[in-house]
Amino acid sequence: MCVLAIETTCDETATAIIDRDLRVLASAVASQERVHDRFRGVVPELAARAHLENIVPMVEKVLSESGIEPVDDLSAIAVATEPGLPGSLIVGVAAAKALCVAWKKPLVAINHVQAHIYACQLGRKESIFPCVGFVVSGGHTNLYHCHSPHHWKYLGGTIDDAVGEAFDKVAVMLGQTYPGGPQISRLASTGNARAFDLPRPLVSDRSTLNMSFSGLKTAVRYHLFGTGKQDFSAHVLKPQLAEDMAASFQQAAVDCLVNKAKLALDITGLKRLCIGGGVAVNTLLRQQMQQELAQDSCDLLIAPPELCTDNAVMGAIAWEKIARGEYSPLTVDIQPGLLRGA
Ligand code: KG4
Ligand code: ZN
Repeated sequence: MCVLAIETTCDETATAIIDRDLRVLASAVASQERVHDRFRGVVPELAARAHLENIVPMVEKVLSESGIEPVDDLSAIAVATEPGLPGSLIVGVAAAKALCVAWKKPLVAINHVQAHIYACQLGRKESIFPCVGFVVSGGHTNLYHCHSPHHWKYLGGTIDDAVGEAFDKVAVMLGQTYPGGPQISRLASTGNARAFDLPRPLVSDRSTLNMSFSGLKTAVRYHLFGTGKQDFSAHVLKPQLAEDMAASFQQAAVDCLVNKAKLALDITGLKRLCIGGGVAVNTLLRQQMQQELAQDSCDLLIAPPELCTDNAVMGAIAWEKIARGEYSPLTVDIQPGLLRGA
């Protein structure tokens, strides 16, 4: 038996068919990068409209690729109901409900942030729980004590921008396209990470697992364009300057993430860190986490790159709920905000 998982929390319309042994029979992602690129960030209404166009083709794609017969082969339909952009969430949830009615299947509501961490479970026999879960994405930068797939405690997170948002906005200052993370990484590979002395907010404060990235973003802006209100999109930066700033920013952001991840392991006494979310694709982050955790004899699990950015395969967490009979009524609402008690 299989699950059809649907993911439309932000700007990717994704579907997947996953069997009970967490084998992926089909996966499809329609990216909206081209829709949002000229705005250098996600425009919520355009995202919702693009989901509306893409959702049926994406469902049809995984049905035909997997060759399953929905009425016979599906145990349930899973959909991310939280957190995310309201208009985007509504499209996926409405589609999932309609398919539940048409095929007489139960609905499983899943939490997108938990699904990002659960991406580390795919392809592994042993349970990843208990662990510290770290979601580093365009919308979230949160640490959790994950006791089990059903019991998560919020430990701390960004008090302003998500780290991916900072990558995206710094990339705009450096004249790059959206999404900015991969562009910053590329520029940084030929830059000097010590060229600019950028702040690492809250890093020296061991009393909190909270993080902050907006000051780092502003510091980049002041270094590049001064403190005035001029329009930085009019500036053309010298290539070496852009590369050095990309490397300096990337190093500062990674230092903040590694520092708080290690503190979370210290505080909880846990020996395993699981990282998911788009920023976890970042090579420097992966290398630095690996080095630092090896020193502390902790296990590091990072989702494979294709499962870090938004996808529906991580909706495999639905099987954990199905095992306990945790279905949702077809009246279930979306929950756009992050529930810190999650
Ligand atoms: O998980 P995701 O696809 O969407 C959200 O749930 O937010 O994450 C997207 C974020 C974007 O901010 C993007 O710039 C960032 O992940 N990202 C990266 C890299 N690849 C994607 N950030 C840093 N380095 C990368 N290589
Ligand atoms: Zn995400």
